[in-house]
Amino acid sequence: MKYSTKTESLTELKTPCLVASLAAGRRACTRKGEREAFDTATADFGNKAGTHLMVHLPSSAPIRRVLVAGGADGEVSPANYRKIVNAAARALKSLKARSAVWALAQVKVDGEDTHWKASAGLFAVSKALYGFDAHKTSSTPSELRTLQVLCDARSQSTVRRAVRQSNALKSGLDLARDLGNHPPNVCNPTYLLREARKLSRLDKVTVSALDERRMEELGMGAFLAVSQGSVTPGKMIIVNYKGGRRGDAPVVLVGKGITFDTGGISLKPPAAMDEMKFDMCGAASVLGATRAAADAKLPINLITMVAAAENMPSGVATRPGDIVTTHSGKTVEILNTDAEGRLVLCDALSYAKRYKPKAVVDVATLTGACIVALGSHASAVYSNDDALAEELVGAGEWTGDRAWRMPLWDEYQTGLKSNFADMANIAGGGAGSITAACFLSRFAEPMRWAHMDVAGSAFQGGAQKGATGRPVALLFRYLTQQAAA
Ligand code: BES
Ligand code: MN
Ligand code: ZN
Repeated sequence: MKYSTKTESLTELKTPCLVASLAAGRRACTRKGEREAFDTATADFGNKAGTHLMVHLPSSAPIRRVLVAGGADGEVSPANYRKIVNAAARALKSLKARSAVWALAQVKVDGEDTHWKASAGLFAVSKALYGFDAHKTSSTPSELRTLQVLCDARSQSTVRRAVRQSNALKSGLDLARDLGNHPPNVCNPTYLLREARKLSRLDKVTVSALDERRMEELGMGAFLAVSQGSVTPGKMIIVNYKGGRRGDAPVVLVGKGITFDTGGISLKPPAAMDEMKFDMCGAASVLGATRAAADAKLPINLITMVAAAENMPSGVATRPGDIVTTHSGKTVEILNTDAEGRLVLCDALSYAKRYKPKAVVDVATLTGACIVALGSHASAVYSNDDALAEELVGAGEWTGDRAWRMPLWDEYQTGLKSNFADMANIAGGGAGSITAACFLSRFAEPMRWAHMDVAGSAFQGGAQKGATGRPVALLFRYLTQQAAA
């Protein structure tokens, strides 16, 4: 499905489906029979934000149906606007038509411009229309092929830009969610590399990888300690997008790509262990953001690293108590093999220094403690740079893919002390998401760095089990802003 723009007056539209507020929908029904049908159908509609009504018009009408979005007349708050477009977007999923016209970018939203309104609406549609039936023998995918955003001549160029960015974002979101949702017997490090290589079909993108032999030469003992228990070799995947000027410092994104996290010898309990196929969602999100950035042809240089490995118990797996030497030269005592994300990431972060990045952002489903702290509504942001933290939190606010900054105070570092090595890979004393970030910070200095713990936001459990694609939208907005700066 693709987004496009449409400049036409409401009263001259011809479409299988118009998505509009109650008043706009009514205005679009110009002829007598249509107006009556519309008024009869909507007579009992409460017009509340978050509700919708599908109104079918007489078969002679140029507009065959109106999907009425409740609560969209008059000025609405940004939060209510999201409710409104989410409800409309969900209703579009079962629409039996190949195209529709979206008139909700014309709703008045307090403090927000047309670019935001169009972007927020299409983001809602991208989220709602996603489905993953790759492993089902029968499925009923959405029939919608084009969604045309209605705009007037004055706002046309603004809406065009939002549409272009929204198409790019959608491709990145879909990629991230597909990667996350594939089962762990399909999506292993080899598969992630193969999928990443497909990005080189895009303009200005090249893909390479460090294999285990190369990582041994580089002294990446922490990464290798995680992957050594698996028969599928780990990969450090590197995607290079050169959209900016030669010599411009790149942004580096780093993703945790544990394609299945059993815990290793520190084995996890069985309940919901299947959800540890989502432990590569950080990787999926940075690949998704990269896909979106390249699709949108952002004028930036971007390097994306994916630390892809499987954390398995086996006769050759790492033991609790093993000490390894990292790529940085620092030694780590692995007290818990289930704290593996930080081990693969620390070597990736040390490697990232060679790119002299203007900023490094790593994304990881790093700790269960993050879910305790923030639940699923916010991703956690940690940073050694206030401006970078603000840029990321701001990007989350703008997109609704929200994040919340957490502390990285020195006091939290002390728990990582080891009697036998430079540090341990776990710290006692609570605040598990923070101490994990503290561990990473030791390998990120002196770069401008941020870490996002997305353990609670990147996927859902229960009846809605699946990858959410977060924080692709936040990252894409951040990168878009970098391009503008
Ligand atoms: N992948 C997990 C974190 C996780 C748990 C993500 C639940 C999403 C949902 C990570 O590798 C892990 O196991 N972390 C441990 C760290 C502990 C051993 C210090 C945890 O959170 O229990
Ligand atoms: Mn783990
Ligand atoms: Zn993990």
